Amino acid sequence: MIITIDGPAGSGKSTVAEEVARRLGFSFLNTGHMYRAIGLAARRREVDLNNPMELVFVAKHARIEFDWEQVPPTVILNGEKVTHLLGSKEVSEAASYVAVVPQIREMMVHQQQKIGQMLGNVVTEGRDQGTIVFPQADFKFYIDASPEERAHRRYNQMRNRGEYVEYKEVLDQILARDKRDRERLVGPLEKPKDAIEIDSTRLSFEEVVRQILAKVEGAGKPK
Ligand code: DC
Repeated sequence: MIITIDGPAGSGKSTVAEEVARRLGFSFLNTGHMYRAIGLAARRREVDLNNPMELVFVAKHARIEFDWEQVPPTVILNGEKVTHLLGSKEVSEAASYVAVVPQIREMMVHQQQKIGQMLGNVVTEGRDQGTIVFPQADFKFYIDASPEERAHRRYNQMRNRGEYVEYKEVLDQILARDKRDRERLVGPLEKPKDAIEIDSTRLSFEEVVRQILAKVEGAGKPK
């Protein structure tokens, strides 16, 4: 069974998807981590992020694997465990350049489909999982929240990690990311037509997880 969870940056979909997977005993695929791993490789090679050819070269030489035995699965880039390096500002920024290159998206989509097939039961999250990667998914969810709420969550996360940021700066970044994610030509962020939309602005993490589980477990038989 494949369950897709898409949504914008800061909607909380990664933590929700991970928890839903854990409770169902499914594997969890974080596709943002794949774009981030290529972003990390691009930073390390110091390529020009505005040059798609250079990014494609980096992507072709970046072997991305997951250790599915770990919860959440560890990301392995050319044999090196890199999960702990994927959350930085530099890597996030690089990933957002990587994610607009059609040839790289094609490679990622293909690899994600193969992973889905191999895992069987999976909760996968990203921007294009229900639309492009798994159009036949058994359940599709789209989690959203107001930009202000998403900025507040990100701001609190960063402050808790000891990073100094202004709320306004975080909100501006969220709005800019939304625009890039929604306006790109290949695999843009959009709600799959047949997805169940959850607005998490006023919901707790636990309430979002429960709503998803209720739909999946309540359906008896997937569509
Ligand atoms: O969800 P995230 O912030 O970890 O994603 C990192 C980057 O990758 C972000 O710029 C959006 C992009 N992305 C994407 O384009 N498609 C996906 N399926 C997942 C992430």
